[in-house]
Amino acid sequence: MICYTHICRPFNTTIRFAIHTMIDFPKDLPDDDLLPRGRTLIVFDSSLPRDCIASICRLFEHSGRLSRKLSLTVRCGKSLKSLVRIWTIMADFKPELIVGVGGGTISDLVGFAAASYKRGIPYALFSTTTIAMVDAGVSGKTGVDFKGIKNAIGAIHYPLSVINVLSFLDSLSIDDFRAGFAEVVKMGIVTNSDLFTQINQWAQLSSIEQRNRLAEIIHQACITKANIIAEPSEHLAKTMYGHAIGHAIEVMSSTHLRHGDCIAIGMAMEGLLACKLGIWNLIEWDEQMKLLETLHLPTVPPLGLSLDQIIMGLEKDKYATEQDFRFVFPEHIGRISGDAESFFTSISRKGFRQLLAQIFNYSSLSKPDVELEHPRVLTNDKSQPYLISPVAFNSKRR
Ligand SMILES: NC(=O)c1ccc[n+]([C@@H]2O[C@H](COP(=O)([O-])OP(=O)(O)OC[C@H]3O[C@@H](n4cnc5c(N)ncnc54)[C@H](O)[C@@H]3O)[C@@H](O)[C@H]2O)c1
Ligand SMILES: [Zn+2]
Repeated sequence: MICYTHICRPFNTTIRFAIHTMIDFPKDLPDDDLLPRGRTLIVFDSSLPRDCIASICRLFEHSGRLSRKLSLTVRCGKSLKSLVRIWTIMADFKPELIVGVGGGTISDLVGFAAASYKRGIPYALFSTTTIAMVDAGVSGKTGVDFKGIKNAIGAIHYPLSVINVLSFLDSLSIDDFRAGFAEVVKMGIVTNSDLFTQINQWAQLSSIEQRNRLAEIIHQACITKANIIAEPSEHLAKTMYGHAIGHAIEVMSSTHLRHGDCIAIGMAMEGLLACKLGIWNLIEWDEQMKLLETLHLPTVPPLGLSLDQIIMGLEKDKYATEQDFRFVFPEHIGRISGDAESFFTSISRKGFRQLLAQIFNYSSLSKPDVELEHPRVLTNDKSQPYLISPVAFNSKRR
């Protein structure tokens, strides 16, 4: 059985945890010796196929642990209500270990329940979505949304073990599957140009070849993420590229949008802002755009979401100050602008609306005010165009 393993050593801690990526369900519990042998609460996403849940529960039963299951519907996201459900069972069952089986919603909720119950108990994760495999499950960032603010309440708490079983992805919708790749593109852009090249090559393969090489790609992305969290904790800010506007869209959009989709749109917009400010270059931004498109990720805000609504969403961003919005911008593919002092670039709230409106045509006019040689038209809706015009910056596209 193919199983890639990487040991992750988060900075400034004595913690180590293993990340395993495997194609099929394991016969034995990986890292069994690392996990407490006592009462185990298994929290799983109710939309997972029953046989998959049964396979996971069997691993714990065979190891002689007394376990209890809790099925959660993740439709309402990372809500306080779901957290209270987990806390309630914990108060009654008194687990020594909590295991999350699901995507990023479950890993954030279970991780935070583990961080907060009795001031912290161990947890392990079986990640079942691409986004959880390459990002959420490995980050140690846990929490819930509160009062419309994404991840408003949370804690850093690392799992004891993370297990990515690719068979879980068979039942995942194609939209959820591809949304996870937005974070892989992001990680390539912010820290690892080799990963960017690899995902670019993978995206060009036939679907059979893509499947054959999926474990490799997912594991590479995991290692990149593990390397980021091995850096000083303030470097984590690097991973916020695409997330200021991405979260604003996620919070303000009336239609439910996947986190990865919002991040892809966020990268399209923030990347262009970086070019406009002379921090990044349009040739690399265009490479990013082509890759996002090849991966069938969206690059424009949803129809009906106005510029003002995006700005209202940005006002809720936890990194925004009273005067400024703050962004993480690429300088090159593989490197983010700034240094350990700060990876954020501030743009005054006052000037921001104008800047964004200059780049994105949010008016109902069907034509932008410059002659475009090769306009990158980012909408099919002629009545409400979101036009991004690289030519407007007097830069040549390849
Ligand atoms: N902590 C972090 O560092 C971090 C990083 C990225 C994202 N996140 C968070 O993760 C969440 C998004 O993660 P996600 O996309 O995994 O969302 P999710 O967990 O909500 O899963 C997406 C959908 O897929 C379903 N699903 C999950 N696994 C399935 C499977 N194997 N088969 C069938 N259906 C399945 C879920 O029921 C849900 O409808 C957001 O809340 C985001 O903020 C956190
Ligand atoms: Zn993210």
